[in-house]
Order: sequence, then C-alpha cells, then structure tokens
Amino acid sequence: MATTIDDSMAARISADCPDDTKQLLYHAWAHDTSDLKKLLDVPGKASARDPATGETPLHAAIRACGPAPQSDTDNDADDTVSQEAAEAVHELFLSGAIWNDVDSNDETPGCVAWRLGRKDLYRLCLEAGVRAELLFGLFDGYEELSSGSSAEEEDVEIINVEDALPTEGEGENGVIVEKETETEKQTTEQTSANGDQDSKVPSTETATQDVTSEQYLASNLTYDPAKLVDDQGNGVMMAWETSIMRRSVDALLRQTSSPGPDNAPTTLPQGKRILNIGFGMGIIDAMFAATNPSRHHIIEAHPAVLAHIDAGNTAFGSAWEASGPGEGAYKVHRGRWQDVLPQLLEAGEQYDAIYFDTFGEDYAELKMFFTEYVPVLMDQAGRFGFFNGLGADRRICYDVYTKVVEMHMVDVGMDVEWEEIDVDLKGMEEAGKGEWEDVRRRYWTLDKYRLPICTFMSGDIC
Ligand SMILES: C[S@@+](CC[C@H](N)C(=O)[O-])C[C@H]1O[C@@H](n2cnc3c(N)ncnc32)[C@H](O)[C@@H]1O
Repeated sequence: MATTIDDSMAARISADCPDDTKQLLYHAWAHDTSDLKKLLDVPGKASARDPATGETPLHAAIRACGPAPQSDTDNDADDTVSQEAAEAVHELFLSGAIWNDVDSNDETPGCVAWRLGRKDLYRLCLEAGVRAELLFGLFDGYEELSSGSSAEEEDVEIINVEDALPTEGEGENGVIVEKETETEKQTTEQTSANGDQDSKVPSTETATQDVTSEQYLASNLTYDPAKLVDDQGNGVMMAWETSIMRRSVDALLRQTSSPGPDNAPTTLPQGKRILNIGFGMGIIDAMFAATNPSRHHIIEAHPAVLAHIDAGNTAFGSAWEASGPGEGAYKVHRGRWQDVLPQLLEAGEQYDAIYFDTFGEDYAELKMFFTEYVPVLMDQAGRFGFFNGLGADRRICYDVYTKVVEMHMVDVGMDVEWEEIDVDLKGMEEAGKGEWEDVRRRYWTLDKYRLPICTFMSGDIC
C-alpha cells in the first residue's frame, strides 16, 4: 500500500537540523531567492541537507508549492507561487544543487515535483539532470587526456541543453555550446543518475547497479521458466519482458517504422539480416528466428548461458547453426561483444536489424556500442534497438536518459523514435513479491516502457 507523505515544513525540516542548513531550507521553502542567493555564496551549500529527513533546498522549494490546482479557480495565485519557486529552483541549480539527491521518502526533487503535479518544476529538474549526465560523459572522456590540471582549474566547454529540450509537443532544437560555471562542475562531480554517488551512470538493466560486468561474467547463473538470475539473485532476464521483446522485434522488422492501428500484429518480412547482443533466455532470438532470417548472429559472453545452449536446452545449438542458408549465416558468437565485434567488422558484416540487451554494463557501454559499431554494422535503411532499462526505477531518471540518448544519437547521425507501450504492473507492485520473488531488486517500476527505434537520419543532413 502506498504510504502517504507528510509534506509539511514541520515534518521536513527537523528540530535538530544544523542552523545554517535550516536557514537555507527556510529561505528555499519561502522562495526568497534574493536572500537564498546570499546564503549560496559558500560552495557546496546548494546541496546541504537536513540530516534527519534528507531535505535539500531543492526539495524544500518544490515541496512548498503544494499540489498544483486541479481547477482553473486558483490559477492566478498559483502561477505566482509556481513562478517564484521556479526562480528559486533555477538559482539553486546555478549554485550546484544536485538534481537527483534522494530524501528520506526516497524521492528526488523531480519525484516531488511530479507527485505534486508541478510540471514546470519537474521540467527544470529534468533539464538539470540531462545537463549533469551529459557533463559526466564529457568528463569521463576528458579524464584520460588530462595533462594533470584538475577540472576546477580548466575552462571546460559544455553543452547547454536547456534550449535543446523540447517544450511540450515541440521537437528538438539545436545545441548551444557555452562555458561551464564553477557550480555546474560541482554538480557534475557529485551527481549520479540513480542517486548513487559511486555509480555515475545508470546501468542499461537497472538491476545491475552494483554488479560489474567482470563480476557478472564470473558468477553462476540459474535458469527457471520465469527468469534467469545470477548468484546474488539479480534478475538478468525475466519472462515479464517477453511482451517488450515482442514489440521490439515488430518495431525493428516491420515495413514502416510506426505501428499500425491498435498495434495490430504485423506480418514481418522474412530473410532479414539480424544481429542480437545478449542471448539471456533466448526470448528475442526465438522471435527473430521465426522470421527466417538470411543471417542471424548472436553474441553471448557468459559461460553458463553458452553451456545452457550447448546442453540442448534451447533451439540455438549446433543443429540451428547448421540449418542456416549458408556457412556462418546462423551463429552464436562466443565472447564479449567488445571482443567479437571487431571480427565482424573486419568480415564486412551488415545487418538490417540490431538489438542490444546485455547485463552488468552501464550506459557508457551502450553508448560505445551505438557510437562505434552501429554506424558501421547497420545497413543504411536498418534499425537499431536496445532494452531501455536506463534509469527505469525512477521516472525522472528514465526521462533524463531518454533525452541523453537522443542527444548522443544525434551525434552519430541517428534519430530515435520512441514507441510508448504499457507495462502491466500486476504482480510487480512490490519488491520481493509476485514477479520479484527471489529477485534481489525490483528494477522496473514504471507503467510505460519507451521502446527505442533508431535509424540513420536521412542523407540531406550533413
Ligand atoms: C538481459 S539478457 C538478454 C535477454 C534477451 N534479450 C532475451 O530475450 O532473452 C543479457 C544477456 O547479455 C549477456 N551479456 C552480458 N554482457 C555481455 C557482453 N559484454 N557481451 C555479450 N553478451 C553479454 C548476458 O550473459 C545475458 O545472457
């Protein structure tokens, strides 16, 4: 049962909160931006938090607005509150406030804004999240090239995404390059997409937050009809994802990129060239195989998954490999995609549909895949998809990563179309119960899945 959250000031700013933090929280709560500014002069202040409640000035400024009015009657007064709050929130972000700090209710400031129906404030949090995550990418990239000077000493150029974010119902604009402020650097260094300070980028499967690829590939796996789990109980693949796999195959192979009316089942074309990264339970490969591909390559790294295939537990053993229309047309490539793909590149392989769904890897790996390999391996008219579990345990993180992916895709000349599909959460509402029984972490909480269909932009853009 959902717990009711007490949003009162008395509940959120504790009596024991240190005085300087209390002052900040009070001024943020009152949307008193000019006094807030003075208090924010000290570095790090924007991310101060009440030790008992985890309340940050961002939480306070948003929470103080209360729920957005349901009707038009109170709109004038509310517009003023909302505008003042937006100014305070903007100021806090400028001063280095962290977009995804979670409070004692497990809410980020964006979660509070969403719950209260404060769309404008939610949007500010979203923009700040995108900015911070893009910066992470840049810093990661710059790290190795650094000649010893710290980020604080450098004037690093960053992308300001504010103007690139669409307003409701509007498409993407261009990207502006401007100089980074001191406080934005601070945010970048402290922020993570999932609230975990050590884990700076979300995993493509959010269940893997604290499992490295190396640990995962060395772990024991257990198959049952409903799931594949590692020896720590992390859900590597679960049967509830079958409908997502179905829709992904349909989206990658159907003749037009958009679904037909009512998502009517499509007759998929036969004879396509398919590349799938990550076999798991073989769910998506069975669907691809049913379309009689002319080439069907699977890359799988985990010895236990390969042993499962070799033991004849799936339809993808040696008989399947031998049944292909030509030598090597149907093949399970054994090893990490990072090691196998250079060989496929060298062999000049080209695919009409590419799907990526691994485990224990973070967004940096997915980005490397679609930046370095997809542009060479995919046919000009091909489609690329991936399991979109990026930040899927929290709406704001999911929304941030939708934008981040879009922007990175543009960098490599690709468009992303998102097909929003319903996820039936029945039996998935509670950690440790229903679908999540014996699974360590409930890695999916959202009722909508955003299915990505990535294609090359048409040739007239250069
Ligand atoms: C989530 S499962 C894939 C599920 C699959 N889409 C299905 O429909 O059953 C992820 C798979 O990726 C594999 N994997 C993880 N890291 C890999 C890597 N670097 N290279 C190749 N396979 C990898 C895992 O062993 C696992 O079998």
